Amino acid sequence: MPKQAHHVTWGGRFAVGPAALMLRFSESVSYDRRLAPFDIAGSQAHAAMLARVGLLSVRERAAIHAGLDAILAEISAGRFKWDAALEDVHMNIERALTRRVPAAAKLHTARSRNDQVATDMRLWFKHACGVLGEKIRAVQRALLGVAAAHRRVLIPGYTHLQRAQPVFLAHHVFAWLEMLARDRARLAAVAASANWCPLGSGALAGTTLPVDREFTARVLGFVDARGRPQLTQNSMDAVADRDLFVEFAAAGALFGSHLSRIAEDLILWSSTEFGFVSLPDAFCTGSSLMPQKKNPDACELLRGKSARLQGNLQTLLTLIKGLPLTYNRDLQEDKPPVFDTFDQAAICADVLAGLAGGLTINAARCAAAAADPALLATDLADYLVTKGVPFRQAHHAVGAVVKLAEKSGVPLNRLPTVEVKKINPAFGPDWAGVFDLRRALAKRIGTGMPGPTQIARQFARWNKALK
Ligand code: ARG
Repeated sequence: MPKQAHHVTWGGRFAVGPAALMLRFSESVSYDRRLAPFDIAGSQAHAAMLARVGLLSVRERAAIHAGLDAILAEISAGRFKWDAALEDVHMNIERALTRRVPAAAKLHTARSRNDQVATDMRLWFKHACGVLGEKIRAVQRALLGVAAAHRRVLIPGYTHLQRAQPVFLAHHVFAWLEMLARDRARLAAVAASANWCPLGSGALAGTTLPVDREFTARVLGFVDARGRPQLTQNSMDAVADRDLFVEFAAAGALFGSHLSRIAEDLILWSSTEFGFVSLPDAFCTGSSLMPQKKNPDACELLRGKSARLQGNLQTLLTLIKGLPLTYNRDLQEDKPPVFDTFDQAAICADVLAGLAGGLTINAARCAAAAADPALLATDLADYLVTKGVPFRQAHHAVGAVVKLAEKSGVPLNRLPTVEVKKINPAFGPDWAGVFDLRRALAKRIGTGMPGPTQIARQFARWNKALK
């Protein structure tokens, strides 16, 4: 039999309490308990505000504050008894507080769980974005270390997974750093959108009581760069809005795509076919059958986790689509996807940082691949351009040179000059000089290009940015 309704906080108008099945179905405390530090900070700020406007005495406020401190200590020590019958983190904490502090019965004055959870989550997002941003920065630093330790290593760059043009390994790594820098910027933007205080919005229509929203916002750190409080401007939107969830999950999903692409590069590079890198044993596994195998499982999981991160974004978009304003209980399902995005993105970042720290570069294999003269076919076309040949004709002529090399089984740079001249008379005696790899790179002087002067500039830039 369901318990008497007066056992639940909102039981006044109910004849019977929720069925055990309903409690199990509707509880969220199993996952929203991680909001406890934010919930408690929010409650302490709210109590301070209530005291300030005269709705709590100074004594009551102090008792509530101390009681919440004690509860937080218990939670941190793992001694707090969570009760699924109390639904969520908010009710669990409030009930525990009420048991020890009579004034706790006044804490929920001028507040609803709707603006309470909106506040908790905004505080959580600010925290989560900061933590994740730092972890991504650690990945960047580890990758920068790889580039710095192999400054002079050249590899082919690829398009369509076909050898295209030579680049410094550092240039490829810097491309990853750019992707990750954008991820960090996106997370910083999410934290900035989170920085608006919804407390005081009540269930959806504010309160008749004389609350001081600016005060609570200030106490909780919802302030701009000049310390001015930032308040949500519409009570209905404030409790219904879940944009931040989507923005955070989107930032996570895109970070996941980046991880996946980086992981895929490493998987390819560590294959016997490429052999550019060797992954650290500590992040690989063996085969139960084939003794020679060393499998890039960490990279494969980085690639696989990106699917999950994308799924979380999709879950949220679907969850909020078509919901009438304002709060609907559906919205309780908003937390598992963002918590999962945080947890998975965080461990992925840690794994990639660890893996990058143990990467071995096979310089000889890289050099052999980068020495493929075909990588400089485009440079050969540029050479003809400097001799006055229009690029389209130059491209065509070099194509014919490549075809000839292939047909005669001679490396591109070893073809006899007379043969090459037959294809286009603009080829001079110096034509094969184009295939000097270092010289070819040195010509790439523009911003963003892989020439050595630019690489040096980028090293300086990243060293400073990631100091
Ligand atoms: N656990 C709830 C959630 O996360 C808290 C808000 C409940 N509000 C309500 N009106 N039932 O959605």
